[in-house]
Amino acid sequence: MGSLSIGSSQTSIGLDIGTGHVRVAQVKSTGSGFVLTGYGSVTVPMGAVADGEIVDTGAVSAAIKDLWRHSKVRGKNVSVGVSNQRVIVRLIDLPFMERGELQSAIQYQAQDYIPMAVEDSILDFQIIGDYMTSADEHMMEVLLVAAHREMIANAVSAVEGAGLKLDQIDVSSFAVVRALMGESDQILPDDEGQATAIIHISSGLTNITVVERGVPRFNRISSLAGSTFTQAIANVLNVGFDEADDLKRRIGLPDISGGAEDAAPGMDPEYVAVVHESIEREANKFIAEVRRSLDYYLTQTSQVRSIQRIFLTGSGSQLRNLAAYLEKGLQAQVLVADPFDGRVQISSGAQQALGADKMGAVTAVGLALGGLRS
Ligand SMILES: Nc1ncnc2c1ncn2[C@@H]1O[C@H](COP(=O)(O)OP(=O)(O)OP(=O)(O)O)[C@@H](O)[C@H]1O
Ligand SMILES: [Mg+2]
Repeated sequence: MGSLSIGSSQTSIGLDIGTGHVRVAQVKSTGSGFVLTGYGSVTVPMGAVADGEIVDTGAVSAAIKDLWRHSKVRGKNVSVGVSNQRVIVRLIDLPFMERGELQSAIQYQAQDYIPMAVEDSILDFQIIGDYMTSADEHMMEVLLVAAHREMIANAVSAVEGAGLKLDQIDVSSFAVVRALMGESDQILPDDEGQATAIIHISSGLTNITVVERGVPRFNRISSLAGSTFTQAIANVLNVGFDEADDLKRRIGLPDISGGAEDAAPGMDPEYVAVVHESIEREANKFIAEVRRSLDYYLTQTSQVRSIQRIFLTGSGSQLRNLAAYLEKGLQAQVLVADPFDGRVQISSGAQQALGADKMGAVTAVGLALGGLRS
């Protein structure tokens, strides 16, 4: 034990607890890359997870147990992601100090940057780099993460209640960055003055992240997400949520590229038009929200002048023609992205379990990849 054995492989499990689903991904590191060796997804009872936070730990534990019974994932140590209003990510500038000094200084400095009481928070930080100001002051850039203790405790008890052990807690959006772009030292630096945005759309939450040179530098959570589109259809047609969700998937947004494809063959065109209109209204709000976030980011940073590439991911990003709408509305290249397009191979055993959930799997995969390092 403890020796370096060349050619050995290591596996890691990522667990993504969402509003509608709990997903698990098991990933193996081989000499030549990463392989998804196990996958699973189960639904979570309505209300057990709300706004990204676990409300009913018992119900979530039961869903996780169910997931272990029905997937081929084996092992008890998991990495879990958190994403909600009580996880705060801030890039801050501080006078330069050594790592050890920063460890204690951050306890006092953090309160200026986070809206929660420091006593109620678990703090973590990452030193991004240091620089000299024009006035010759030595400064450093630090990525500060603060998570509410009680929120973390709920995640721990949901996981332990399922008989598992929590190895690592990660910010979900960082896991998504890792799944799509890799760690900072593994990727090529972006062109000078440019950054990449990642928009991850789930059912209840959208995560907007800006990445520069592989480092997530900005993160904002919006409640405009998959459910927003579904609810708009439910309201305008006065139908139930499940029926509206089905209509959303079948109809989506109109084709703005000028193509005359028939989005919903066999459906009453007037009905389709009503659905189109209701989703389009929400899509425009969504675009405005993303634009506000990206503009805010650009005003906060001196180096980056534009965001020219946007990765769209998460289950909700499959809304028909959404990428084209974003591309037009944000004047940037929008690419629908999943981790299996190059970074992670899928073993034949996991293929069937993954099925059509490639876009939904990104968080769980990124969490598993994060666990491989430790
Ligand atoms: N083909 C599709 N077209 C449009 N929307 C889709 C499609 N497939 C799934 N969605 C939407 O994706 C959303 C579900 O996303 P996902 O499963 O990632 O959510 P979750 O992880 O359970 O929740 P959370 O928001 O807490 O992360 C739903 O709003 C669903 O309607
Ligand atoms: Mg999710």
